[in-house]
Amino acid sequence: MNLLHLDSSIQGAGSASRAVSAAIVERLRTETPGAATVYRDLVSQPLPHLTLDVLADPAANAELQAFLAADVVVIGAGFYNFSIPSQLKAWLDRVLIAGQTFRYGPEGPEGLAGGKRVIVALTRGGFYGEGAPGALHEHGETYLRSALGFIGITPEFVIAEGLVLGDEARVAGMAAALDAVRDLTGAVAAA
Ligand SMILES: Cc1cc2nc3c(=O)[nH]c(=O)nc-3n(C[C@H](O)[C@H](O)[C@H](O)COP(=O)(O)O)c2cc1C
Repeated sequence: MNLLHLDSSIQGAGSASRAVSAAIVERLRTETPGAATVYRDLVSQPLPHLTLDVLADPAANAELQAFLAADVVVIGAGFYNFSIPSQLKAWLDRVLIAGQTFRYGPEGPEGLAGGKRVIVALTRGGFYGEGAPGALHEHGETYLRSALGFIGITPEFVIAEGLVLGDEARVAGMAAALDAVRDLTGAVAAA
């Protein structure tokens, strides 16, 4: 199994999404000892904004090639300004490539990357779940579901939220997420 692990939080050692993504990877590696893991820190080594030359040469697109080689992708994403970190957007811009991970056919767009398992560790300061007053402002989970769905992937989410609403809420939010990590089973996506 090839595992690609990405982090995109700017909050370094204090990052919640980095802690949760690391726990997910540890859990998967317990399930599948010997999995080959590639780690990519999108903050310490940021990608530039997308430019046309990236689209022109998929073979030279290292992010795309690493994604294509992965069976499982674990993404750590903080929730910033109602969406994902721009560092992660720059990565997605290199992975959503026509002819590589999706194509347009007579029936419309078709995802070509199905079969990969993608697990997102998403950590939010407030509450944005179904029924919460903030739900309408949630453009992180919804965006990732759309973008990854477009290329054929149904992502799984481990979400910690309420993290900036005081110590008690933070501890409870992280505990719930880490409990969910312990419940993760299997390594690769069901076919
Ligand atoms: C630049 C920035 C923007 C943020 N914007 C939001 C926001 O729009 N809504 C929210 O609920 N929390 C917001 N937060 C709080 C983060 O979601 C929270 O700190 C979470 O832990 C981020 O994940 P991380 O710790 O892995 O960086 C923001 C935090 C930062 C640093």
